Amino acid sequence: MKIIIINGPNLNLLGSREPEWYGRVPFETYFRRLQAAYPEHRLSLLQTNEEGALVSALQQAAQDCDAVILNAAAFSHTSVAIADAVRAIPIPVIEVHLSPVFAREGFRHHSFTAAACKGTIAGFGLDGYRLAVEHLTGNAL
Ligand code: DQA
Repeated sequence: MKIIIINGPNLNLLGSREPEWYGRVPFETYFRRLQAAYPEHRLSLLQTNEEGALVSALQQAAQDCDAVILNAAAFSHTSVAIADAVRAIPIPVIEVHLSPVFAREGFRHHSFTAAACKGTIAGFGLDGYRLAVEHLTGNAL
């Protein structure tokens, strides 16, 4: 299965950014572990700080991939355009947040993008991405 992880703004700073919420592991380090754990699947990664690039990446994913794991970061809470892009593509999109967004500030409790996604995983740190892969690849019990 071809799965792309699409990460939004500031997630390139994982490892040093607010480690109390996001941990101390750079995403590339975690991503290599994830790839090694699922050698039978093709996992790819795209990170961008730009809203329009996230829209384009979702549109492209519909051509190239079977599923998307999306952490649109702060744009989750603001972007109708990204939510529309999720709705516009026929492949499943799972939203992941590292931090427990519902236990944080009120403005993080609403996600435009989650409303368009198949489901949301929040609060399990980087392990949320593995949980999403497990679901997508049908490893659930
Ligand atoms: C985040 C949560 C968002 O509220 C925040 O803006 C982020 C990261 C998370 O993964 O916990 O940048 O998406």
